[in-house]
Amino acid sequence: MKITLSIIKADIGSVGGHFKPSERLLERVRSYVEEEGKDVMLDFYVGHTGDDVAILFTHTNGKGSEDVHRLAWDAFKAGTEVAKEQGLYGAGQDLLVDAFSGNVRGMGPAVAELEFEERPSEPFLSLAADKTDPGAYNLPLYLGFADPMYCPGLMLNPKMGKGFRFTIMDVAYTEGDRRIELNAPEELYDIATLLRDTERFVVEKIVTRETGEIVASVSTSRLHNIAGKYTGKDDPVMLVRVQKDFPAAGEVLSPYAIGHYVAGTMRGSHNGPMMPVKRNSSIAFFDGPPIVNCLAFSVHNGKLTEPADVFDHPFWDSIREKVSEKAVEIRRQGFFGPAMLGENELEYTGITERLKTLDERFQVEMPTKEVILAAAKGS
Ligand code: F6R
Ligand code: MG
Ligand code: MG
Repeated sequence: MKITLSIIKADIGSVGGHFKPSERLLERVRSYVEEEGKDVMLDFYVGHTGDDVAILFTHTNGKGSEDVHRLAWDAFKAGTEVAKEQGLYGAGQDLLVDAFSGNVRGMGPAVAELEFEERPSEPFLSLAADKTDPGAYNLPLYLGFADPMYCPGLMLNPKMGKGFRFTIMDVAYTEGDRRIELNAPEELYDIATLLRDTERFVVEKIVTRETGEIVASVSTSRLHNIAGKYTGKDDPVMLVRVQKDFPAAGEVLSPYAIGHYVAGTMRGSHNGPMMPVKRNSSIAFFDGPPIVNCLAFSVHNGKLTEPADVFDHPFWDSIREKVSEKAVEIRRQGFFGPAMLGENELEYTGITERLKTLDERFQVEMPTKEVILAAAKGS
């Protein structure tokens, strides 16, 4: 059976700051999808990661389906009403336009979709991150799909030996979608060169080179490119089919033990280590650290099992402790150096405005004629 998985997420309001949506808000989104979505979808799951609500749908309408996207949009609108009633912070924050028109892409919510012929056994992972942006997945995807140190399946399984094709999006380009396709392993250094720059280049999807099947899809929206100004971090979602001739769940997830530094956390303007967390986690320290959760599902004829909460295990407790230490360590240097993001990525304009004022107060002392002559002689 050919099915589509669509995960659509938005921040539509949260309790006490940027921590989590209220129970009533979540319940409203859930009941809206359940009541209104019967003719549109086969199954669904609603959860939250920090202040973001994600709806996972299974359906047969294909990618970019107007019906499915409208259902998500209307459910978020219904949730926003509750957020307003309760005075939640940032009510409707990620719904950037007044009226839905065809597809949530470009309207604020993040979306990742996979369309495929179901395998007899179809396991997949649904990841959602908060207080960060889509480039946060660059490193784990590179390691999980192209590095045999993390993904031994590349050596062990002959069908994976041909490698994977990465589609990478230039998210700084705003005229349209600017993307490139690169093959691992031959073009590994080119892939690495792009993925290093997490604020500009983002993995959009990955297919196998053996069969061309789709394996992974990531939301690539940059809210500030849509709205022309920052309206919050882009808190990305991702879907990954796993096992057999695709990387195993454990291969995809092993890089999350690094706790790599990503953009985000306080005021969306700092770097912090990414912490793998349990389902429906809130936010802990300095509007962070950036968090990611991962639910593993099986799907058959479009029906989902209950999720396995893969970061809910004592192993990940020890990783969380290490990540906490990394978070405290980088916070010790406040705004200096890599602790705070570069000017272009800051969510607030304060620094740019200060720099402008200070710029006028700089005084330039020109070198004397003698110094210039001496320098010219020396060269
Ligand atoms: C992401 C998130 C942050 C905020 C940022 C600024 O979920 O909540 O990126 O957008 O911390 O928030 P304000 O301006 O509301 O303090
Ligand atoms: Mg937020
Ligand atoms: Mg968020």
